[in-house]
Amino acid sequence: MAQQRRSHWGSKLGFILAAAGSAVGLGNIWKFPYVTGQNGGGIFVLVYLASVLLVGIPIMVAEILIGRRGQGSPVTALENIMGQGSPWKLLGWLGTATGFVILSYYAVVAGWALDYLFKSLTGAFWAVGIDEIPTLFDGLYTSATWNVIWLAVFMALTMGVVFGGIKGGIERWNRILMPGLFVLLLVLLVNSFFMKGFGEAMRFIFYPDPARFKGWASILEAVGQGFFSLSLGMGAMLTYGSYLEKDSDILGSAISISFLDTLVAMLAACILFPVIFSFGFEPQAGPGLVFKTLPVIFAQLPAGQLLAVVFFLLLVFAALTSSVSLLEVVSASLMERLSWSRRKAVSMSGATIFLFGIPSALSGSVLSDLHLVGERSVFDSLDYLASNWSLPLGGIGIALVAGWFMDAKASREEYETGAKQPRTYPFWRQAVRFLSPVAVALVFLKAIGLL
Ligand code: PHE
Repeated sequence: MAQQRRSHWGSKLGFILAAAGSAVGLGNIWKFPYVTGQNGGGIFVLVYLASVLLVGIPIMVAEILIGRRGQGSPVTALENIMGQGSPWKLLGWLGTATGFVILSYYAVVAGWALDYLFKSLTGAFWAVGIDEIPTLFDGLYTSATWNVIWLAVFMALTMGVVFGGIKGGIERWNRILMPGLFVLLLVLLVNSFFMKGFGEAMRFIFYPDPARFKGWASILEAVGQGFFSLSLGMGAMLTYGSYLEKDSDILGSAISISFLDTLVAMLAACILFPVIFSFGFEPQAGPGLVFKTLPVIFAQLPAGQLLAVVFFLLLVFAALTSSVSLLEVVSASLMERLSWSRRKAVSMSGATIFLFGIPSALSGSVLSDLHLVGERSVFDSLDYLASNWSLPLGGIGIALVAGWFMDAKASREEYETGAKQPRTYPFWRQAVRFLSPVAVALVFLKAIGLL
């Protein structure tokens, strides 16, 4: 097959925006606040920040570097770097499978955001009292029909964007929407600042109170959340890196992306918790937390309906720029491994993921008595296994390839190509050889009680 020149981002900023678009999503606005609530805040948040810095950034560099060096989706890139028969290809398949699983339930949560966009448009939050706003979520969660409909709608949207390919589809949207989301979050933050629960919220989020510490399981949760939020450990950054030009600065990009992602997660928490403490809601409410609390803000604000519409629209788009990166990994693998056209790969994988997502969509209704891992629902179990186990495991694999197994000269050359600070190489190398994989492995061992 004649090798076509691989398509590239339209500009350097294009990559950063697309990668930040992948990172910033429901993980920041939906998941970070609720896992922070469940894990008692404080120490959990500090560990989260530490793991972004010490584990996330080095591994993000490793992923982008492997992608750009290997010029392909995870399996192909690892094959190109490690050789045809290399067992490291399995790492690529693990990542692809993880992307498949994540998208299947991610699209369900994104469907909730679509439903809330619809509710904002029709004024549903204004038709009930403030106390009843949280029950609107329970109504949605227990509706089998709506969950499946929204899942289908969101998967169709994701497929529509991925059909358009790199420049036309993925890059264009990110440019406008990311800054919009950011501005709106700032507005909401100012509003939360004036709530009476603001001080208590800050103490909950940032004060490392040992009494609220929930043990090693919550440390694993913090590390897993870091991987999930930064889109690491399954090859999304790797695949986006494969479309990156050689003159781009990998370390600089990784730092900007991680910084933006962390900022949005912190903003989301600082917006939500003041509402929770001001209105006496439950910080431990779980996956419904954002949907139960945020509308309360909108219901009280002047022009609240307009703000709600814009907010949920932007939330849907933030979810879309993330889901697009998940589907891109799965379909790019099919295109490369089976020589399928983009159209065929996207339709087949999208349709299969939709079907696989149905059990998650039924977690609150038909399948509400089905628990896979402990007391967790189907959807929660998949999230737990993918975020807390599969992504960190994939991350260790990526770190091992970049730090130990790939040709050291090749890794150095790729790191330094386009680098603004090539002298940082030795630091990154030590981090990716020892610090990051050992830290993740330790947390694994502690969490399963082997240490
Ligand atoms: N990082 C995305 C979010 O925070 C989710 C995601 C995970 C995307 C893994 C790609 C890969 O919403």
